[in-house]
Amino acid sequence: MRPKLVAGNWKMHGGTIQNRELLAAIVAGTEGLSGIGLTVCVPYPYLSQAQSVLQHTAVSWGAQNLSQHDKGAYTGEVSAAMLTDFGCRYVIVGHSERRALYGEDNHTVALKFKAAQTAGLIPVLCIGETLDQRAAAVTEQVVAEQLDTVIDLMGIDALAESVLAYEPVWAIGTGKTATPQQAQDVHGFIRSRIAANSRGVANELQILYGGSVKANNAAELFAMPDIDGGLIGGASLVADEFITICRAAKN
Ligand code: 13P
Repeated sequence: MRPKLVAGNWKMHGGTIQNRELLAAIVAGTEGLSGIGLTVCVPYPYLSQAQSVLQHTAVSWGAQNLSQHDKGAYTGEVSAAMLTDFGCRYVIVGHSERRALYGEDNHTVALKFKAAQTAGLIPVLCIGETLDQRAAAVTEQVVAEQLDTVIDLMGIDALAESVLAYEPVWAIGTGKTATPQQAQDVHGFIRSRIAANSRGVANELQILYGGSVKANNAAELFAMPDIDGGLIGGASLVADEFITICRAAKN
């Protein structure tokens, strides 16, 4: 049995005062929830705050992006080593917002995945299709290509030290969740594609679902055989919602 993981993606939200309340509520509300992984991916300026509140708790923290470069003249960028300096465990790579708004292509995403792993971070690799791609029935092709670029660069075994997140773009921030069966179909496809390379890696790999996961739909999504938890946007900013989602992963 793969342990479930619930990851909050705060995106560009937060402030020191509200973060303090939110983090404290999450720690208190998830206390004793053993056997699952919990993490929050916060904006860079709040990594230090997350570290000081969450160290010595069962909740880990991470970032939402990183540079593919180690260091150098890259104004505004943040390296993997800087993230480990603040105790990050995870870093999201290839989120659809990065792909769509900041032009990150599959190759750049693969380089970021590599930079993260090289530094000892666990990349949370996001893949998923747009509404047009789903309508054109090319969902499997799109996610396969997103995945293959990373496998080609890193090798199949590298996936064992990562987390995948299937996030259909049309379900992100729209309130339009994929049905559990729609999500399961793609998760199953992803896992079987990986199994063709390595059954061991496929069996162990956590594949999260993301896209309008809320307190009232998390349980049915997490009940599907190939869904190993969630990557949560909007609902991760609301303590009660997020805690309920974490509890749903436990059941
Ligand atoms: P929402 O949960 O707000 O739809 O966002 C999902 C997401 O993009 C998580 O990375």
